[in-house]
Amino acid sequence: MPNVFETDAFPAAHEVQSEYLRFLKQRDGTPDRAARTLAVREAWFRNIDENPLEWTGPDMNPSFHATMASPAPKGQPPLALWMAIAATANEGEKYSVERILNSREPVADPEDPMSYVEIEEIYHTRLLLDAIRTVGVEYTIKKPPMWVRALASFMIFAPKPLEYLAVFISEVVGTVLFAALAERARTLVDPASPAGARLVSLIEEILVDEVGHVVFARSHLGPVRLWAARQAIRFLAEPMFRATPATVELFDVRELAHRALNLDLSELPAHIVARAFVPAPAPRSQLAAV
Ligand SMILES: [Fe+2]
Ligand SMILES: [Fe+2]
Repeated sequence: MPNVFETDAFPAAHEVQSEYLRFLKQRDGTPDRAARTLAVREAWFRNIDENPLEWTGPDMNPSFHATMASPAPKGQPPLALWMAIAATANEGEKYSVERILNSREPVADPEDPMSYVEIEEIYHTRLLLDAIRTVGVEYTIKKPPMWVRALASFMIFAPKPLEYLAVFISEVVGTVLFAALAERARTLVDPASPAGARLVSLIEEILVDEVGHVVFARSHLGPVRLWAARQAIRFLAEPMFRATPATVELFDVRELAHRALNLDLSELPAHIVARAFVPAPAPRSQLAAV
């Protein structure tokens, strides 16, 4: 499949959007904007809440807090670095989505994909906090740094064409980060243990959502903005990854930036692609087929 910046990576925008709405209705169930819940997701979380797991590994509190406090957390355990990235990964989205939801009508339109996407972002905070709790640490998400708040304000107040461009860029970078976190989680905890399996499944739920966000944001962009998004990612992806010190310690940020610049959703692990919204590429035009 072509990468997400290529114009024929997916079917026509209207097809993608109507298929995505069908996908969201099935995955999420009825959206309730006032309560900020999605019916199907609530049932999923109820199961998590009713079955707390006891972390039997080492106490991660000291190394997690030391990592969070350090501008260069060298020598910290990889699991503490992973947790610190998870703790900050959704700060920006949480901040912008809460601002957006506060300005919305209290009743969600079930025919608008954004009604689901916005509430999914609220759940991402809960998924990340549950992931950190699974390894025995309680944490509260902080307000994001100034530059993230400025970017969020830009996305909220920018004209629609620029808003989708900025959202697409941040969803691509976010998807690469969550894919890397999901992949690494399997090596940091035993995915066959109850706590390990839960940690992996919590992070993979986010990844499945983010893939859909990339495809949906992309469906609003024509060839010029897709090209502009790729140029922006060429320069911005690496600094965005570098903004979190733990990311620099746990991952090769140049490699992550390379992945963002060449993101092909069909190359994500097969069990993610099977659950996520990844439409088949657009059929080649007659001209291209000759
Ligand atoms: Fe998210
Ligand atoms: Fe997202």
